[in-house]
Amino acid sequence: MSFRPLALGLTGIVALFGLIQLVPYGRQHANPPAGASPAWDSPRTLELARRACFDCHSNETKWPWYASIAPISWRIQRHVDEGRAKLNLTAFDAASRKMTHAAGEASEEVTKGEMPLSDYLLMHAEARLTATEKQELARGLDATFAAFGEGRGGAAGGAADSVRAGSGERGEAGESEEEERREHGEHGH
Ligand code: HEC
Repeated sequence: MSFRPLALGLTGIVALFGLIQLVPYGRQHANPPAGASPAWDSPRTLELARRACFDCHSNETKWPWYASIAPISWRIQRHVDEGRAKLNLTAFDAASRKMTHAAGEASEEVTKGEMPLSDYLLMHAEARLTATEKQELARGLDATFAAFGEGRGGAAGGAADSVRAGSGERGEAGESEEEERREHGEHGH
């Protein structure tokens, strides 16, 4: 029996782990300044959203220590970048169709259990909402974003939802799903 292959393999893994720490992506955790807030319907809605959504959907992200360690840092950075781009609850852009569309869907994401992302919930007990809290948040989001809700958010609404219904698991596919939706919804194929 020789342990050399094993030792070499482990050394390789350790070296690789060390090397990927040098990649700059995912380590700049300065939060951009806040912009416009949505017109929250109640302090309670804001409180629940802050607990469950703000780490990815605001400029008030609380970065955990492991958010500086590759490769986890890359995944977290991407989630925050994408989350903020879709729906930023401390820099809300009512002129962005993409953002108002997401705002209109926010309550649905909560009731369907698609948001917050499940791997995030593993590490964030405070973001796990009870059934009652989910209802409260969903109702609050509906009230806050009433102007952008289903049927009021523009012509893309219906078609977009039917595309989405068949698309199954979210996560890595999120971006292409969005592409697809844009095509189907806005250009009417
Ligand atoms: C761990 C990070 C994270 C948390 C926490 C989180 N989200 Fe998200 N959210 C994302 C990412 C990443 C996307 C974009 C990819 C996708 O749609 O899956 C997204 C997309 C969305 C969208 C747009 C969906 C679409 O299909 O365009 C809505 C609406 C949304 N989130 C609402 C919420 C709400 C409400 C909460 C709190 C209850 C929440 N999110 C918590 C990361 C997060």
